[in-house]
Amino acid sequence: MSDETVKPLLSVALIGCGRVGVKHLNSIFKAKDSLQLCALVDTDIITAKAFLEKFIINNRKAASAFPRVKFYTGIDALLLDMTPDIVAITVPSGFHYEIAYRAISSGCHILLEKPMTMKTSEAKELYDLSVATGRHIAMGHIYRYLPIMGLIHQDFISEKWGKISHGSVVVRWGHDQAYYDQAAWRGTWKLDGGALMNQSIHALDLMCYLMNTYPVSVVSQLAKRFRNMEAEDIGAAVLRMENGALCVLEGTTATSPSDHEASFYINAELGSLRVGLRKGLPFFDIRDKKGKKVTRKYYREELKAKGLRGIIDAKNPHYLIYRDLINCVRNGDDPIADARSGYKSVEAMLSVYRSAKEHRQIDIPGDSDFDLNDMSGYFN
Ligand SMILES: NC(=O)c1ccc[n+]([C@@H]2O[C@H](COP(=O)([O-])OP(=O)(O)OC[C@H]3O[C@@H](n4cnc5c(N)ncnc54)[C@H](O)[C@@H]3O)[C@@H](O)[C@H]2O)c1
Repeated sequence: MSDETVKPLLSVALIGCGRVGVKHLNSIFKAKDSLQLCALVDTDIITAKAFLEKFIINNRKAASAFPRVKFYTGIDALLLDMTPDIVAITVPSGFHYEIAYRAISSGCHILLEKPMTMKTSEAKELYDLSVATGRHIAMGHIYRYLPIMGLIHQDFISEKWGKISHGSVVVRWGHDQAYYDQAAWRGTWKLDGGALMNQSIHALDLMCYLMNTYPVSVVSQLAKRFRNMEAEDIGAAVLRMENGALCVLEGTTATSPSDHEASFYINAELGSLRVGLRKGLPFFDIRDKKGKKVTRKYYREELKAKGLRGIIDAKNPHYLIYRDLINCVRNGDDPIADARSGYKSVEAMLSVYRSAKEHRQIDIPGDSDFDLNDMSGYFN
């Protein structure tokens, strides 16, 4: 490789050394040809140090890949000392806005876990800031990175499938009580929300991405049936999309943790599709208007576009988000799960909650701001 083609490594600081932080660290390690981990940040410094130690024990080559990692207890201490090219934010959702705002205002690009924020106006602010500063926000909307999703999205953009009647999103991502009990922020209105805001927001985002449209109104209901927490463990909504199609959403954590499902159905004039994940494995059933399976055509196109490596890498969608962001930082494109997807999904999901709270249809965008914490006391 000539010197001209060698690109400098992008420095990355990871804020939040918890459950999903491991997937990020693993992805940063996998992308070590382009990324250099410069800092780990966690309010609990012992957790941050143990997090890296454990990772190095499990991945022997990580010691040489991560030679100069500094530790900080917060974003302010980090930014006083350095300005990383990328800040990855994997803290409880209620802290996303504050940390993302500080990082992007300091000139960093961001990889931000979902949901973008807990308040509509704050999501809009981050989106506007991203546009104004030219700094990217790549969202942790992992479903957009599953195989074939980009091809389907392109088909709907070019109206290859004709008019859409409706879609249906089912998220049955079971979590037992121990999951909610392991950290005080889980299942609270202020910092997390329930099955819709946490487990279903990126599924609703995928539906909007596939159908190439966003919701303009919603009616919904929430319930808390099995789990002991502040927020809902089941929510159901009917959304009307800008293109006139309906979208039905079911999101729950009340199902079995050993049978996770996130599935997506779309019916259009010229075909239908059922895609998603069941027990960790993707499934695809794409049919033309006569009901004939055309899934293989999509497999072939995906393979041609991404090669076998690309298909294998899709098992780790967080890694693909990093790869996408690296390319975007270098060539100026927008990430597949961009700042707008973060803002629009928060706007839509908070409208779902608002409809349940106010027992009425909510237009999107609404006439006033909404904060998930406005749901406080809903189940009292
Ligand atoms: N995209 C996905 O597939 C996916 C999956 C799981 C979680 N998530 C999202 O990731 C986020 C974190 O979830 P988790 O399950 O890893 O949580 P977690 O509780 O396991 O980890 C959070 C970590 O952040 C630290 N922390 C808390 N406040 C902080 C602050 N102000 N500054 C620095 N560190 C702080 C905690 O000490 C903890 O180590 C949530 O927003 C969640 O919705 C996304």
